[in-house]
Amino acid sequence: MKTLSSAKVKTSPVVAGLNLLLADSYALMALSHHAHWNVEGQDFFALHTAFQTHYENLFEAIDEIAERTRALDAYSNGGLKALAKESGIEEFPTGSVAAKDYVAGLVVAHEKTLADAVAVRDTAGAANDLETQDLVIGRIQWHEKTLWMLRSYLKPSHA
Ligand SMILES: [Fe+2]
Repeated sequence: MKTLSSAKVKTSPVVAGLNLLLADSYALMALSHHAHWNVEGQDFFALHTAFQTHYENLFEAIDEIAERTRALDAYSNGGLKALAKESGIEEFPTGSVAAKDYVAGLVVAHEKTLADAVAVRDTAGAANDLETQDLVIGRIQWHEKTLWMLRSYLKPSHA
């Protein structure tokens, strides 16, 4: 395919951060979907349902993040290949993966996404862009809560 020439793109540290957060969130959505489809074992029902709530949350979030970039009069990144490359988040292998390995992989991806969201919060704060900061704070809260749940699953039971 011939590459379309891109016009000079307006960018800023806040926009760059939002585009990275978009890429992370897109990659994490795909991981959550992958785990939702293929998880097996005695925890199937709980994990299948939990992973669905995760990819549904992320699907709405990526739209909010991309449209915040547009509201800042900049352009949003897109495309599976470009987003996967930008995020750098490792994908799950095809085939059978243990439930705890899906959860452990998702923890790593949430941690990366959370760290990049915290960076946008601080960059937006420094730029006095409180609206972007508000959006990103909501994302931070959600990732922290989800990480608590995923890490709790990985803890050994005391029963
Ligand atoms: Fe489903």
